[in-house]
Amino acid sequence: MKTPKGLREHQKLLDLANANTSYLDKLKPFSKFNRNGLDVALSTRHASELSKEDMEFCFNLTKTNMETIRSLTSAVDDFRTCTALLKRYNASSWGWSDQRKRTELKEDTARFLLARSQSSADGAPGQLVAFVHFRFDFESTADEAQIPVIYCYEIQLSEPVQRKGLGKFMMQIIELIGIQEKMLKSMLTVFQANTSAIKFYRTILNYEIDEISPSQCDDDEADYEILSKRLPHRASLTGK
Ligand SMILES: CC(C)(COP(=O)(O)OP(=O)(O)OC[C@H]1O[C@@H](n2cnc3c(N)ncnc32)[C@H](O)[C@@H]1OP(=O)(O)O)[C@@H](O)C(=O)NCCC(=O)NCCS
Repeated sequence: MKTPKGLREHQKLLDLANANTSYLDKLKPFSKFNRNGLDVALSTRHASELSKEDMEFCFNLTKTNMETIRSLTSAVDDFRTCTALLKRYNASSWGWSDQRKRTELKEDTARFLLARSQSSADGAPGQLVAFVHFRFDFESTADEAQIPVIYCYEIQLSEPVQRKGLGKFMMQIIELIGIQEKMLKSMLTVFQANTSAIKFYRTILNYEIDEISPSQCDDDEADYEILSKRLPHRASLTGK
């Protein structure tokens, strides 16, 4: 069991992480992605700092990516997988709800990593093309401790910028922010039917099925997995 002192230290870390308003200040080399035909600027924002238009973009992109099969290949197997995914999403315990998704995106603790195409010659801000919704929070461990983690609630790329390395780059930034803010793990939830995302997280980014994932807790009914990766951290925080 963690000592109250350990808990207090962890709470302090979460408070500091949540109060930070410029997560990329010390990660300048990661504020641009200029590869594979993309020229994208990255920035972070608290939910309250997002313009109405940017918030609407995040909502619509999430909805489009979840509802459309257009962004997947037309191969029969992929079509079946996607149809299954949509059915599962609608039938899942989470079920899609416009209102619920909008509320989730606007919550006080929501943080955003935004990817914007570089501005045109006239200096106007470029279009948003992708985002990650992340949060700093306590998460349980198998032995019922509570540890501070960076949790990826959503990563969504618009179709034209997918499969160009940007998603991997953005997830790596999330992990670097987690390390910078002294979080112990990077975590996320993924539907079992989203096999391409699972491949992306497990094979490309080396995430593992977390010890508290339903499949590790004899819950055969759940249609999702919790994935995680341990982040390098100070030994003092583990109580070792
Ligand atoms: C899943 C997603 C975040 C991946 O980001 P991305 O920028 O498209 O992926 P990357 O280019 O960084 O991919 C790196 C590697 O991951 C694997 N990968 C990524 N997307 C994949 C897909 N749809 N199918 C199979 N493998 C995939 C590939 O090995 C890829 O390398 P390659 O393109 O050289 O073969 C992005 O495609 C996306 O937003 N998809 C729609 C929304 C979604 O499913 N979000 C995740 C919800 S949990």
